[in-house]
Amino acid sequence: MKLFRLTLLAAALSPLALSSAMAQNTNKLKVGLMLPYTGTFAALGNAIENGFRLHVMEQGGKLGGREIEFVKVDDESDPAKATDNVNKLIKRDNVDVLIGTVHSGVAMAMAKVAKDTGTLLIVPNAGADAVTGPMCAPNIFRSSFSNWQPGYAMGEVVAKKGHKKVVTITWKYAAGDESVRGFKESFEKGGGKVVKELSLPFPNVEFQALLTEIAATKPDAVYTFFAGGGAVKFVKDYAGAGLKKTIPLYGAGFLTDGTLEAQGADADGLETALHYADSLGTKRDNEFRLAYAKTFKLQPDVYAVQGYDAAQMLAAGLKGVKGDTSKKAEFAAAVEATKIDSPRGPFTVSKAHNPVQDIYLRKVVGKENTLVSVASKGLADPARGCKM
Ligand code: BEZ
Repeated sequence: MKLFRLTLLAAALSPLALSSAMAQNTNKLKVGLMLPYTGTFAALGNAIENGFRLHVMEQGGKLGGREIEFVKVDDESDPAKATDNVNKLIKRDNVDVLIGTVHSGVAMAMAKVAKDTGTLLIVPNAGADAVTGPMCAPNIFRSSFSNWQPGYAMGEVVAKKGHKKVVTITWKYAAGDESVRGFKESFEKGGGKVVKELSLPFPNVEFQALLTEIAATKPDAVYTFFAGGGAVKFVKDYAGAGLKKTIPLYGAGFLTDGTLEAQGADADGLETALHYADSLGTKRDNEFRLAYAKTFKLQPDVYAVQGYDAAQMLAAGLKGVKGDTSKKAEFAAAVEATKIDSPRGPFTVSKAHNPVQDIYLRKVVGKENTLVSVASKGLADPARGCKM
């Protein structure tokens, strides 16, 4: 009799137990946004947050069945404060996932902590090659690019144009160094020579002495990596020094993305390489641009797209684990198996968790980075040093 009752109890409980084991985790998901909200990259941080929020809004405030709660930190693009900032988000705020950041040096500090603690990290901009190179890990993803990617694509373009002698100029930190290295790799493979590599510390904008050196060197062309407020000043100073008329200026597309309003006519005609352009004209991109403009009363840029796609990547991973972020391997497998339906065009994620994507050649016409051609189709970062 007793055994019969127990059997009945077990039979009554088992569907319940089963369904609760299979159920979605419906607690709120804490997302830690670690982005620059002040300094030369402030506009980039805001655009990333807007893009991320737009996708969450489109999903009714939930990703993978879980309502999203945000915690924010201004990282000031300061690598010296990065480890403390990321530890605060993990230990004090108990975030489930980290989204950040813009600056490569800060992102490398975030990746180290994420790797050590196993916290999920999605990098929505910073291109530090190491993040999906030697620091790659099952719980670390990037929705943007590696610094190598636009640099490499632009080097091929500049070599094909027949330029032989190029001077590079950038900020002296991981993003600048790696963008120039990518450019140099393909440009010299194509028969050109980088004759001088000029740099100044991040985020300095005292360009005059370096512009004088460019004028004296008389190269066929200049390649540059600058972004945000620094890019605005560089483009204006380059034109102001009279160089725009005599020495063609090329760059990774950050030079003219989100900056055209402030650069005005000084940016007109500049050609750059990037994984986004303002005039792709696809249904997906048109819908995104309209929704973004309506919601934020601003035109989107590459940073907004990367924020939007960070949310799409998170959603894909969460879907694969029914909202349970503790299942890291399954989360990674779900992201790796997904084609992200990005406004930039669909992309997949490499084994090292970096986008495999088209890099566009763009030209500034008025207030837009218009599409010229696909400079490099389905370009994958070489992920040098990644062992996963
Ligand atoms: C970087 O530090 O990786 C970066 C910053 C701004 C734009 C692009 C890259």
